[in-house]
This record gives sequence, structure tokens and C-alpha cells, in this order.
Amino acid sequence: VIVARDVTLVVNGAPRALRCEPRETLLQVLRARCGLIGPKYGCGIGYCGACTVIVDGRLAHSCCLLAVTLDGSTVTTVEGLAESGRLSPAQSALVREGAIQCGYCTPGIAVTLHGLLAEQPQPTPEEARAHLVGNICRCTGFASIVRAAVAAGEEEGGP
Ligand code: FES
Ligand code: FES
Repeated sequence: VIVARDVTLVVNGAPRALRCEPRETLLQVLRARCGLIGPKYGCGIGYCGACTVIVDGRLAHSCCLLAVTLDGSTVTTVEGLAESGRLSPAQSALVREGAIQCGYCTPGIAVTLHGLLAEQPQPTPEEARAHLVGNICRCTGFASIVRAAVAAGEEEGGP
């Protein structure tokens, strides 16, 4: 017997009351119920990072989290990174550095770089590469993404 449960989340600052089946992932709930299609389905097994979001302040692969386990959590998706209509430093740097080709991985990478900058405001290229280990981009070769991470840090904190 599948028993749906009530789950309350705060998603990008807005409270959401959702009735979720035990098998529904956070990614499914965000995309299908919340209309947030920034997080992408890539592998579904926690490998590619296309679905990366922030849950209670920590980066997470939303394809691997069951929504019913997250009652009371705060979730930020790529749609929640911009403030007052301005792209976040990570988003702006990705655009400036041209670190986007097909764009499928980009929402997850923007969220991951946002998390990196919160922990390490001026990352080195090595730190950026290490932090991106859970995100796969098949297009860019990562050089431009790493440049964006370093540039975002320099812009925020000053060299
Ligand atoms: Fe979640 Fe690949 S879709 S890690
Ligand atoms: Fe195509 Fe990263 S830009 S997968």
C-alpha cells in the first residue's frame, strides 16, 4: 500500500505544502509540482550533478533524495540564486566566461559554484575542480567553468 504524506518545504524562500508519495524524489517534486525546471534529470543515480540543489545549506543531488524525508527543509534551486533580479556571482561569471554550451549541466554547476563560494569565497582552480567532482559537463571541458569559479571569487572578494 502506497501512503502519501504531507510534506512542507521552503523552496526558494516560499513555503510549499505538498502531498508526496514515498517514492517521489525531490527532483520530481521540484520539477513536476513546483514548476522549477532548472534542476535537470541526467543520470538519476547521484553521479552527474545535473539535479544539484541546496538543501538546508548543503549541496545535494535532488534525484537521490526522497521528498517525504525532507519535511521542514529549506531548498534552493538555480531559480533561487538571483537576488533582486540580479544574477548571483556564480551565474554572472559563468556567463562572462562563456562556460555554457548545451546548458544541460549549467543549473547544477551554478548551484555548486554558489555553494563553493559560500564556503570558500576566493577559490583556487584546484579547489574549484575538487568541488566540481560531483558535476559532469560533457561539453565545456571544465576549463571555462573553473575560470568562472575563480573569477567570481575575485570579483566578490577582490584579488
Ligand atoms: Fe541527479 Fe545525475 S540526475 S546526479
Ligand atoms: Fe553541455 Fe555542460 S554545457 S553538458
